[in-house]
Amino acid sequence: MALSSQDTQKLYETYVFANYGRAPLNMVRGEGSYLWDAEGKRYLDLLPGLGVGGLGHCPPRVVAALREQAGQLIHIHNNYLWEQQARLGERLSKHSTGMGTPKAFFCNSGTEASEAGIKLARLWGRANGNRFKIVALEEGFHGRTLGALTATGQPKLQAGFEPLVPGFAYVPINDVKALEAALTPEVAAFMCEPVQGEGGINPCTREYLQAARALCDKRKALLLYDEVQCGLGRTGDIYAYQTLGAPAPDILWLAKALGGGFPIGAMLARPEIAAELKPGTHGTTYGGNPLACAAALAVLDSIEQEKLLPHVKAMGEHLGRGLHALRERFPKKIKDIRRIGLMAALDLNFPGVPVVAACRDNGLLINCTHDTVLRFLPAMNVAAAQLDEGLAILGRVLEQTQG
Ligand SMILES: Cc1ncc(COP(=O)(O)O)c(C=O)c1O
Repeated sequence: MALSSQDTQKLYETYVFANYGRAPLNMVRGEGSYLWDAEGKRYLDLLPGLGVGGLGHCPPRVVAALREQAGQLIHIHNNYLWEQQARLGERLSKHSTGMGTPKAFFCNSGTEASEAGIKLARLWGRANGNRFKIVALEEGFHGRTLGALTATGQPKLQAGFEPLVPGFAYVPINDVKALEAALTPEVAAFMCEPVQGEGGINPCTREYLQAARALCDKRKALLLYDEVQCGLGRTGDIYAYQTLGAPAPDILWLAKALGGGFPIGAMLARPEIAAELKPGTHGTTYGGNPLACAAALAVLDSIEQEKLLPHVKAMGEHLGRGLHALRERFPKKIKDIRRIGLMAALDLNFPGVPVVAACRDNGLLINCTHDTVLRFLPAMNVAAAQLDEGLAILGRVLEQTQG
């Protein structure tokens, strides 16, 4: 018998840091787009694992791969070779159109992948004209470790952790002139999320990324994409830059959906840039361990064999139609809708946190970012009927909400 949600919460109150806004629910089981709490209540999860559950909860291929790998070899240090890591590098590299034959570096999370990208850009910059500065976007999000937090252009998240890492500058999204002015001779790289996730689902335009590519080439700076949230199928292609029709970057990184729930991050870089990460310059004990790589290979198998990319595009359009129908129903309550593939935002004219709580009470899990933005990151294998079920719950909640 699982501990009740109430008793679990009491343990948390005494023994666990209170640094997350947690719903008072002890979640005990997940399957696809559904989660169950200790009281046996079922929830439709349209944000599984906050983007980690790209295949939903406990995807069968990933579960089978983890079970098999756990019986053979869980961990060895990166001083040896193991086939799964090399094969995963090959698979990700082959998907990275326009990057030549990029090489992969593996770590355990999104923030570590951001750190790896920033460090590699600096190594390359120092070797190519003593450049060190990194330009990032305002309202971006790259993680919570100090380098990634510094790159995160949101002063409210940085407050209290100063002094931050020196040598960063920020520009507004989709403003070519501001980027041009920021790309001074000491800049090693411009980094951005092709679609800002935590910032409220704000895509960079194709024209902006084309201009960024041209400016970076002209000024001899690198172009870096953080695809931790928007990558690995979420937009309907393996990488979001492909969906946007944007130029390829020099360095790109992923995490979240890559392990199907198991922690793994990956950075890919053009081979001549990857060469800067010489033995001893950077590393991690757990990065790309056999278990994590087995999970990620199973995720790629699922995306390919279950033909999930066209499904994401079709379900994304279905979700978009549903969100627009809600906007017609509640024109005063809904300010804006932004969507690319299965990454969607419903921007309200009032705070979203109470709406999220009411949805949860009614069996639907989504979240709120940037105060007013309801965020949807459904599993890539979500069914149209599940999206309809979620939209119906949200519609009932919005009806009862005083906007
Ligand atoms: C774009 C982006 N980069 C980096 C991160 C940090 O990832 P992690 O929480 O795995 O460290 C996130 C997390 O939300 C993210 O959305």
